[in-house]
Formats: sequence, C-alpha cells, structure tokens
Amino acid sequence: NTSELTLLVVFGASGDLAKKKIYPTLWHLYKDELIPKNTQIIGYARSDLTVDKLRAKVEPFMKLKDDEKTKVSEFFKHCYYVKGPYNEQSGFIKLNTELDKLGQGKDAVNRLFYLALPPSVFMDSSENIKKYCMGSKGWNRVVIEKPFGKDSDSSAELSNHLASLFPEDSMYRIDHYLGKEMVQNLMVLRFGNRIFGPVWCRESIKSVIITFKEPIGTYGRGGYFDEYGIIRDVMQNHLLQVLCLVAMEKPASKRSEDLRNEKVKVLKSMSPIELKNTVLGQYVGNPDVEGDGKFGYLDDPTVPKGSITPTFATSVTYIRNEKWDGVPFILKCGKALNERKAEVRIQFTDAPGDIFEGRCKRNELVVRLQPNEAVYVKLMIKEAGMSFEPNESELDLTYAERYTHVKMPDAYERLILDVFSGNQTHFVRSDELAEAWRIFTPILHRIEKEKIKPIPYKFGSRGPEESDTIIKDSGYDYSATYKWEKKAGK
Ligand code: BG6
Repeated sequence: NTSELTLLVVFGASGDLAKKKIYPTLWHLYKDELIPKNTQIIGYARSDLTVDKLRAKVEPFMKLKDDEKTKVSEFFKHCYYVKGPYNEQSGFIKLNTELDKLGQGKDAVNRLFYLALPPSVFMDSSENIKKYCMGSKGWNRVVIEKPFGKDSDSSAELSNHLASLFPEDSMYRIDHYLGKEMVQNLMVLRFGNRIFGPVWCRESIKSVIITFKEPIGTYGRGGYFDEYGIIRDVMQNHLLQVLCLVAMEKPASKRSEDLRNEKVKVLKSMSPIELKNTVLGQYVGNPDVEGDGKFGYLDDPTVPKGSITPTFATSVTYIRNEKWDGVPFILKCGKALNERKAEVRIQFTDAPGDIFEGRCKRNELVVRLQPNEAVYVKLMIKEAGMSFEPNESELDLTYAERYTHVKMPDAYERLILDVFSGNQTHFVRSDELAEAWRIFTPILHRIEKEKIKPIPYKFGSRGPEESDTIIKDSGYDYSATYKWEKKAGK
C-alpha cells in the first residue's frame, strides 16, 4: 500500500546494540525485501552524527557482499538521523517535526519506536516519546530490550511506568531467544506430533536440563556484566523462557495471548529458586593457554576489584504442578567455558521391567539450539551386526544435513518482522516478566546481601565440579559412554 508508511525510530542509534544488531538486521530484511517497502528509519541519539557517519559505524557489521554496494546505498537513502538529548523535550519535538514531515501526504503512518537505550535514560525517553512523538494516523509500537530492571521492585517500577504510557498490546519486550529457530520449533515439535505428548510428564521424564555455554569471557563488557551477573544476563530470561516452552500445557491456540497465558501458568507454579539448589562460579585465568584464556574475570579492568559477580550458575528448579511435580528442571549457564552450545536435554526414565541386565541407558531427546541446530533422540538399539547386545545410538535430525538450502534467519530478523506485523507471540508480556523476577529476586538479594562467593573455575573448563555434582544428585544420570558426534557443520 503506497499510501501507508512506517517510520521506525531507533533510539540509541549510536550505541552498540544499534550498530551490531539493529541496523544490520534492518539491512538484511531490506535486502530480502521483507520489511514493508515504505519504511523509513530514523536514528536518534545524543552524538553528533550524520547518516554518512552512522553508515561508517554500522557497515562493518552488515556482512556486505561485493555485489551489494548499490543496494546498500539504496538502503541508506531510507535512513535519517536526528540528534537530541533524552531528558529534554527539545529533541523529541524536533524528532516529531521530522516524523510529521516524512509522513506528509500519506493516508496511514505507523510509528515504531525501538528503545535501544541504557536504563539510565529509559524512563525519560519513554515519557518524552509518549508526550511528543505519538502518531495519530496509524499504529504506534514500542520495542524494548533488557535489562528490564534488576529485581522485582525495579522491574515493577519500570513496568508500571511503561503501562502508564503505552497499552500492553503495543509493547514488544525482546528476549532474542524467542526468535531462535529451535526455540520456536519447540511448539511444533511438542504439539504437532503424537509421539511426544503422552510421555511429556513426570511419569516418563526424569529430568530436564537447559544449558547455555559460551567459550568467551566478558572482557571489555565487564562494566555492564558486573552489575548484572550471569543469572540476570542469561538464566532469568533466556533459559527461563525456554523452560516455559518445554513445560507448558498445549495452549488453546497459537495466538499470542493463549500461548503467553500458558507460560505464565508454568511460572506461577514455580517457587523462588533456592541458594541450596544453586552452584555459582566465576572464571579465573588459565596460565596454560594462549590468548584471552589467560585472563580471569577479575583481570578485566572494567570489573571492580574483588567482585563476587557470578559468571557461571547452575540451578535446580521445580514446577509444582500435576504434570511436573518432582522433576528437576536444571538451568545451567556460563561464560568462558569449554564450548559454545545451547541445548535442551530431556532425559526419560529407565525402561521399566529391565530384561537387559542393566545395560540400557536412559533415552534422551535433545534439542540443540545452537550452533548446528538439531533434534536427536538417544536410544538403545540391538548392536548392529551379529551381536544381540543392546547398544546406544541415535535418531538424528541435523538441520545442516536435512535442510541444506534453507537460510536460517537471525533471531532479530524474525522478531523485528513480527513487530511490523503486530505479532506478539514471541515477546515477553509484563505478567511473565513479573513472575520471572519473583522466582529469581530472593536468591539474587541473598547472594548480594550475604556476599556469597562464587567457586573459581578455569577459563575453558566445564565449570565448577560442584555443578556436575548437584546435577547428578538431582537425578540426572550422566554416563560418558556415548557421545553424539557431528561432522557436518561443526
Ligand atoms: C545476551 C547476553 O542476552 O545473550 C549475552 O547479554 C549473551 O551475555 C547473549 O552472550 C547470547 O546470545 P546468543 O544468541 O549468542 O546465544
């Protein structure tokens, strides 16, 4: 519709998120002709920039191919820049004048405000947007990024503030894990098949582990990270969201409200996480390796001396409802570990009535989120060949082998497109957020008040051994007898 226009304002246009994620994502969507043709992108920040200067900053992150030069110039013709402060009305009035100008003569003008801003200017900016920048000829939507507060109180303050300005159905809280292929796949895997439904409960499932591992430290990002720590950075949001999708009942439909209602029900059945069910770690340098691995968390000059912020955490959590009572849902995440990997591992109970002298291992369904997306089931087969012995093997759906020609979009591409089309399914609702903080606030406060010291672990290791112990004690049976190995795409 040529008489419809969408104006996307990126607040914090000169910042890291805009540079590394938002502009590159918008470019990819533009290049693939996925965003509405009539979209104009207006950057807003305090820095003294022009579109050309902004382009110079973001282009290195756009992964441009040689033959894309013309197209990228076209893309930047859709970009504008407005300089202004966040805490004064003047900039927002100027911005609004610019937006009105761009929308002149159009029947419908939508406004999408992307707040890629640090918490310190968040309140002022959102208030100024509401006062001076709302459009009246189309929809207004607001995209916000974490951190959504630091605990229940600060998050509630932020949520109440936002709720006083914008209706919930215009707010898009990003948890980028919800935009990932395999996270979205959980819904279809679980509810589009018959084989998993009947065994998806405490009678057949022994434990669930949701893991996030990164081989890099927080070097250079210590300023932000130290204030938040791994629990707030990854566990309270990304891992908990995945937990909800694994544990929830089938929603009445796939509409966003039905789905989010089910997620909230899971969270409401969870008690706050306890310190006694948690292992905390902090990485230290490994003198035996070259490069970054030599440096521990505390060696980062942006980290305060003697900081006790955890960079690793394992928590055993429980969902006290009819389906899951007694089944541990183990959340494990850490920086500076031995590999990059995120997965959901569902371990089933032992096959009852054993006739194989205890030689069978438990089945596992593994959803590998990244890298190398896959769904595989570990199972027992008769050893191939003459033998009649049980043997461990797998049913394996590795995406790189099965879907060779499918381009996997980045999580942000999917999510930003969802905002354009008004689909809130993969965004976090305010009540979900409040529940997530209820579950994590007590332990976070306790760690801070009692100054709980994290256990040191070496850069590049599997994390503290105590984590393996707590996982084992909770009922997860790890036998190193068999490892799923992938040659392709690794
Ligand atoms: C972010 C965290 O939300 O997620 C980072 O702040 C983390 O610390 C990142 O590295 C992980 O995202 P991904 O998509 O690389 O798994």
